[in-house]
Amino acid sequence: MSQAQNAIKFAYWVPNVSGGLVVSKIEQRTSWDIDYNRKLAQIAEKAGFEYALSQIRFTAGYGAEYQHESVSFSHALLAATEKLRVIAAILPGPWTPAVLAKQIATIDHLTGGRVAVNIVSGWFQGEFTAIGEPWLEHDERYRRSEEFIRVLKGIWTQDNFSFKGDFYRFSDYTLKPKPLQQPHPEIFQGGSSRAARDMASRVSDWYFTNGNTVEGIKAQVDDIRAKAAVNGHQVKIGVNAFIIARDTEEEARAVLAEIIDKADPEAVNAFGDAVKQAGQASPEGEGNWAKSTFEDLVQYNDGFKTNLIGTPQQIAERIVALKAVGVDLVLGGFLHFQEEVAYFGEKVLPLVRELEARAKAHEAVAA
Ligand SMILES: Cc1cc2nc3c(=O)[nH]c(=O)nc-3n(C[C@H](O)[C@H](O)[C@H](O)COP(=O)(O)O)c2cc1C
Repeated sequence: MSQAQNAIKFAYWVPNVSGGLVVSKIEQRTSWDIDYNRKLAQIAEKAGFEYALSQIRFTAGYGAEYQHESVSFSHALLAATEKLRVIAAILPGPWTPAVLAKQIATIDHLTGGRVAVNIVSGWFQGEFTAIGEPWLEHDERYRRSEEFIRVLKGIWTQDNFSFKGDFYRFSDYTLKPKPLQQPHPEIFQGGSSRAARDMASRVSDWYFTNGNTVEGIKAQVDDIRAKAAVNGHQVKIGVNAFIIARDTEEEARAVLAEIIDKADPEAVNAFGDAVKQAGQASPEGEGNWAKSTFEDLVQYNDGFKTNLIGTPQQIAERIVALKAVGVDLVLGGFLHFQEEVAYFGEKVLPLVRELEARAKAHEAVAA
């Protein structure tokens, strides 16, 4: 089946940390509490979102004063929904693969096979120091994450699993029960540096990247898919976007201007400093935030760059353009999550499906 025949998927960021998805004093009708989030998850699955992505933070920083833990929070959202898949964010280091494999296998059974994981490699040195975790150099973090993923897959799919790595060791280990999902729950990863892309092209099921232009995303997709093909591996691509859909383009642009106008410069600049430990610290100096401006950093995963800001029609067209360069999933952040996820489902998603159907019909004629 060609790329164009697969319907593009949608995920939303779970606001399980306080302060919303923008470092701004603008009003955000979004809450990090569980009641708000349960209702949001129900709205999202009804609206046509397939996935929700939780966040992991162990300490405050740049607005996220309170942070609920990702695995337990994800389980609560799964328990409150019927179809939604919830992706738990995991940091190798604080988590060991043995504990995580066991936790996720159990949650998979408790929830009818709807849990997934997002292996993140860390950008916040202060957080690691605060909890007594060694802070590895950039590419070493990815070497550890790759071992973590290889081990997870091994434990989830094999009996008598043995592994001798630089970070993890297993000896004749059999996990029972294995997860419900076959061959195993989906494994996402976050990050855009060379090391992140190489890891995606070898082991991950999904590559999540920060917001970017269509050209910037295309370059990453082409790079990863070419390498993955050499490795005989298949990887899907998810892209972050801060979505501002309004009835008119003027309204949407005014919301963006207000977010930036009311940005907290101290917090944004401090965040900009901290993330120099990410992409910029890689040997090639590329990756997430390596080229971000002050305005970009107000949305902490460069979500404005993807430009899903405008009318439902404009946004739907840009989503289809992302799909045309190989994107499989759009990960959305919103200002007022419950209201805007519902609006997206009602106004934007049907237009995307319409454009996809038209592209499919076009392909059929051309074939
Ligand atoms: C979609 C997405 C979600 C992420 N979620 C988290 C998270 O919850 N916690 C965290 O510490 N880092 C998170 N990260 C950060 C990445 O793991 C990584 O540290 C960062 O993107 C820098 O990677 P790079 O140097 O390879 O570009 C996320 C990244 C992306 C793209």
